[in-house]
Amino acid sequence: MISHSEQETATIAADFAKRISAPNVITLCGDLGAGKSCFARAFLQSLGVKGAITSPTFSLVNLYQSESGVQLAHMDLYRLEDDEEAYQAGIEEILHDPNTISLVEWPERLSWMLPKDALAINISHQGETERKIDLPDMNS
Ligand SMILES: Nc1ncnc2c1ncn2[C@@H]1O[C@H](COP(=O)(O)OP(=O)(O)OP(=O)(O)O)[C@@H](O)[C@H]1O
Ligand SMILES: [Mg+2]
Repeated sequence: MISHSEQETATIAADFAKRISAPNVITLCGDLGAGKSCFARAFLQSLGVKGAITSPTFSLVNLYQSESGVQLAHMDLYRLEDDEEAYQAGIEEILHDPNTISLVEWPERLSWMLPKDALAINISHQGETERKIDLPDMNS
């Protein structure tokens, strides 16, 4: 899909969130400033998260509760130093928790720990405000 604005990316993310039927891990790949956090914010809001959604830049992971009671985890692994730090932050448990939907920015930092059935989203710059958003095929 092509997005021409932050708002359009948010709409795409909200629509995508509504199609997630079972808890899963969703990876968000893309360069700095591609729009991963923008996508994540709208995704979380669409599932009922109220109030400010700050980037887990230093905490690595922020946890929320969805409207339907599913735990939502928003991770940003850009600053992850080593595997030990991931264990300490409880990231392995969260990624493999069957009742948590995880959104992972910079999943490349910890690719070996991600479940094999993670859904991959890729966002790439096409222009100043144009982004290409590749969503996984949800019918397979
Ligand atoms: N079509 C678009 N979709 C999303 N963001 C856009 C778009 N056009 C412009 N932007 C801008 O690009 C920036 C995206 O920032 P965002 O923090 O979401 O990126 P990110 O991929 O999370 O970066 P980082 O790797 O630093 O975490 C914002 O400043 C936003 O306003
Ligand atoms: Mg980000």
